[in-house]
Amino acid sequence: MKVRFSFISIVLVLFLSSAVFAQGNSFKYIGAKKCKMCHNKKKDGAQYKIWADGPHAKAMESLSGEKALKYAKENGIADPAKEAKCLKCHSTKASIDASLVDPKGKLTMEEGVSCESCHGPGSVYKKKKIMKDHELALKSGLIVPDEKTCIKCHTEKDNPFFKAFNFKERVKKIAHPILSKK
Ligand code: HEC
Ligand code: HEC
Ligand code: HEC
Ligand code: HEC
Repeated sequence: MKVRFSFISIVLVLFLSSAVFAQGNSFKYIGAKKCKMCHNKKKDGAQYKIWADGPHAKAMESLSGEKALKYAKENGIADPAKEAKCLKCHSTKASIDASLVDPKGKLTMEEGVSCESCHGPGSVYKKKKIMKDHELALKSGLIVPDEKTCIKCHTEKDNPFFKAFNFKERVKKIAHPILSKK
């Protein structure tokens, strides 16, 4: 009986860990437009608009700008806006595995560095009921971004226009708080 019991526990552990794995795998990227419908009200802080007017939403434009083209020419890159080496930090879509793009979502290459590069893939936590429950949202893929989140891209490695990164100062420049909470 004892042997059977431990066999069942092993099976159970394997089953549970694969379930957790499968769940982790099912968080997909849906794109900033999907967050806009709930996060763009002026009285709540219009997080979408702040992002859209900020540097991250314009990260793809920079790859077609003068600086990028000059750098590309000098370094044998045909088109920085199509170059994986540049896109991996300038576009959320290019930074993830294609299998993580939600077919029902709206993620585009053009949206640049969007919400989910910092907040995690939103296919599951986007539901209003989950969004309002912090613990549940965290279990559903939401990330509360910290310095580590930024340093994935704000690093000197492979980043031709790197500027020293001070988290406290930089995070203020992109602040988009929920106003009712303040
Ligand atoms: C159906 C509406 C809805 C959608 C879609 C939605 N949210 Fe939310 N979100 C909310 C609500 C409601 C809250 C809770 C607001 C509050 O606490 O006052 C919230 C809270 C948040 C918070 C703070 C949560 C916490 O617990 O710290 C973040 C971050 C967030 N949303 C990001 C996103 C992102 C990114 C997307 C798109 C991938 C998204 N939301 C899509 C409604 C939505
Ligand atoms: C997926 C990559 C990525 C992540 C993650 C990321 N950034 Fe950025 N960030 C960029 C890129 C690319 C630019 C340059 C945009 C442009 O000008 O084209 C940028 C620009 C900025 C700028 C404007 C540049 C300046 O001179 O100050 C600020 C501020 C900034 N990021 C803050 C942050 C903070 C704070 C975090 C973490 C909470 C963060 N970023 C996370 C890629 C990223
Ligand atoms: C490791 C991530 C990363 C990679 C890879 C990367 N960038 Fe960036 N890029 C950034 C960040 C972050 C910024 C914002 C500057 C900063 O704060 O470091 C930026 C800024 C820029 C800017 C704006 C600079 C300015 O001063 O206005 C241009 C142009 C640019 N990158 C072009 C490129 C090109 C071209 C490539 C590919 C050869 C590339 N980047 C690869 C992260 C990256
Ligand atoms: C470059 C990273 C980055 C991007 C892109 C980004 N955010 Fe955030 N977001 C943050 C950080 C950092 C915070 C502050 C986290 C904290 O509360 O400590 C935050 C906080 C929030 C909050 C909670 C504010 C509060 O007061 O509790 C909401 C809601 C939110 N973001 C929504 C969005 C939406 C929607 C988008 C896209 C339209 C977006 N964010 C894009 C980094 C980012």
